[in-house]
Amino acid sequence: MLTPLNFAWEFIPDYKPSYLESLPKGMVEVDLPHNAVDAPSSYIDESSYQKKVTYAKTFDYKGKNAYAYLRFDGVMVQFDLYLNKANLGHFISGYLPVKVDVSAYLKQGKNELVVVVDGSEDPNIPPFGGEVDYLTGCGIYRPIYLETHQGPYLSDIFVKASAKGEVQISYSQVGEGKPTFQLYDGNELVVNGQETSFQLAKPHLWSVNDPHLYTLIGKIGEEEKKVTFGFRDVTFNEEGFFLNGEKLFLRGLNRHQLYPYVYGAMPEYFQRDDAHILKYELGLNVVRCSHYPQSEYFMDECDKIGLLVLDEIPGWQHIGKENAWRDNLLDFTGRMIIKERNHPSLIAYGLRIDESQDDHELYSAIQKKKAELDPTRLSLGVRNFKESECLEDIYAYNDFTCRDLTHGIDDISSWSGAKGKAKLVSESNGHMYPTTSYDETDRLIEHALRHARVLDDAMGQKGLSGAISWCAFDYMTHDHFGSRDHICHHGVMDHFRFPKPAAYFFASQDDSKPMVYLASSLQSSDYNEALLPSGVVFTNADEVEVYMGEERIGTFLPDRQHYPNLKHPPIFITDWIGERFREDGISEKDAKTIIEGLNFSAQHGFNNLTLGWKLKMARLMMKYHFSFTDVYNLYGKYINHWGKVGNDVYTIIAKKGGKEVARTKYESPRTGIFEAKLTKESLVNGDTYDGCYLVITKRDCNGELCHKAFDPFLIKTEGPIRLIGPSLINLEGGATRIGIASTKGKKGKARVIIEGQSYNETLTIEVE
Ligand code: GAL
Repeated sequence: MLTPLNFAWEFIPDYKPSYLESLPKGMVEVDLPHNAVDAPSSYIDESSYQKKVTYAKTFDYKGKNAYAYLRFDGVMVQFDLYLNKANLGHFISGYLPVKVDVSAYLKQGKNELVVVVDGSEDPNIPPFGGEVDYLTGCGIYRPIYLETHQGPYLSDIFVKASAKGEVQISYSQVGEGKPTFQLYDGNELVVNGQETSFQLAKPHLWSVNDPHLYTLIGKIGEEEKKVTFGFRDVTFNEEGFFLNGEKLFLRGLNRHQLYPYVYGAMPEYFQRDDAHILKYELGLNVVRCSHYPQSEYFMDECDKIGLLVLDEIPGWQHIGKENAWRDNLLDFTGRMIIKERNHPSLIAYGLRIDESQDDHELYSAIQKKKAELDPTRLSLGVRNFKESECLEDIYAYNDFTCRDLTHGIDDISSWSGAKGKAKLVSESNGHMYPTTSYDETDRLIEHALRHARVLDDAMGQKGLSGAISWCAFDYMTHDHFGSRDHICHHGVMDHFRFPKPAAYFFASQDDSKPMVYLASSLQSSDYNEALLPSGVVFTNADEVEVYMGEERIGTFLPDRQHYPNLKHPPIFITDWIGERFREDGISEKDAKTIIEGLNFSAQHGFNNLTLGWKLKMARLMMKYHFSFTDVYNLYGKYINHWGKVGNDVYTIIAKKGGKEVARTKYESPRTGIFEAKLTKESLVNGDTYDGCYLVITKRDCNGELCHKAFDPFLIKTEGPIRLIGPSLINLEGGATRIGIASTKGKKGKARVIIEGQSYNETLTIEVE
């Protein structure tokens, strides 16, 4: 039985040995997951949480159990455990669970638990030892359970299942007894018995579009253990990646499990929500869990929705020389594999410290460990030099060679260490082009197009399994990475999970729902010299038809010339005049030249006309007796918005097979419209507190986030809820979000009161 122990802890953000004798005054009540020292949304002081903090809890225990354990799903980084004043030892958790046998210490009635957590970056524990490009936080940031068993029980089950329907069960048990196994397909019992290997005639396969799961229950006596798994075959080879025999190009992003204010300390809802964002908002088919084992809720959701996963042992570039560091890494490797080996979404283990040097001895030992614990799944190793030794099955390479829109990634035949191996690009972009959600439009567009460039180059390379870019969300980081605000603005979404234009590029590569997104501002004053460069559109449709007001400009097609390999290349609106040009007495041919000349000027400026254009224009000016002012007036009439009222509404209609599937419009924004909403109507406390987001946005008349808006808000709560973060927040680039948590005990209506300068709102939510 699992008894969650996540509510009503006492906490103090320090530690003194005297606390073990008697707890100090001034401890505050907290629920788990908990972050010991909250961070501001930017300019984060990484030293603030590197210390010891103290948690204590009193709980009642009644029962006759043969075995009892405390299970910690994640404590950052290590802890000393005291139960009823007995010291049960020192444990290293970080990103991995710890199970402590408390059978001999648990009393009937009241029990007192004290957990002294140390969040310091211990150089003997990976990922530490060097400076790491992400922050780890401190605290009991995942749930805790009391696990009890009345008699012998199964401590672990591992199901190996193939697309042919073969099942092989291996297990570990404590105590005597022969286990039985029940295999369920939904509610239907399909196999029942003591066999540990059998075959289903026609298994319902797990796939990205149909992520079908089976449940296996193993029993000894009354004690049950349940695991979910799926039937599927994963192949990585020199031809690419295949799921159940079907080739699939892996299109993904890296995910850090870091959230504003509280690092990784977010409960189930938020972890699952990230998986939804990656699959449904960004249209990805794979995520790399950079650079450590991530929440089981996240992995479980990936199983459920069909998002492929690459996991990773904790680390970042550094390999410790000390035995302690290396032993810890090997230990973490084993613990990660055991935690994750039943997940059908997991297509390969990441078994090399991201971007580390070769280390034959260490990586051989890791491979050996993997072979012992799971010979069925492949492994991948991520490196940043081409001649690296590859002991893993998949040679993954971080290619950061994209410096402009002419080059995405190097030719994979140059990866000299990868001969005979399956190949994957595991990172690109990132620090090469940091971009905030509130950057200037042209930077945001270049950021998006660099991702397009990389993906296009990658898809054009024969034998490459996929490309995973850096990264999904902006994240908090150490001193010498990121911008001065200690945030790596590398995400296609910001750290509040709001999309930058690059996010829409990724979404446009997915066909599950029609979309069209105009990435450009059509406000000429957003650009240097009030120019109006080509409009950039991301869509999964075949073409877009563009109107200004009621007048049609023309139809524009995906740019297959520059992006020949993408399924849906970006569309460039290179002409702002098109069919709108109506001037008496000008021949069709000359009209075409004038339109081109005006569009060229819109992109580059009159002052930058090339000699060729100057000559062409001069010829037409002479032919039609135009003065320079006449030409400039034409520019003003057809393109320039500067200082003009009224004619700047553009409509972009995306069409597939000649039929409209989506549309968007652009009108010069005037005022922003605020909206506040909660992402759930009710919260239900479970093993831990429940949560949802409060989302506040300010959008322009086109529905776009006002990306230069930073309005402040004071958030108050009434009733059985609290904020996961500070009460005074501000929009960043037109939007923010903050977690709302249910509190234990009282049920009923709760209110979230939002007070702004010109916008006030009260939202209600039910706690059930
Ligand atoms: C890579 C590294 C990532 C991140 C990225 C930034 O070298 O693997 O963790 O630091 O650079 O672009």
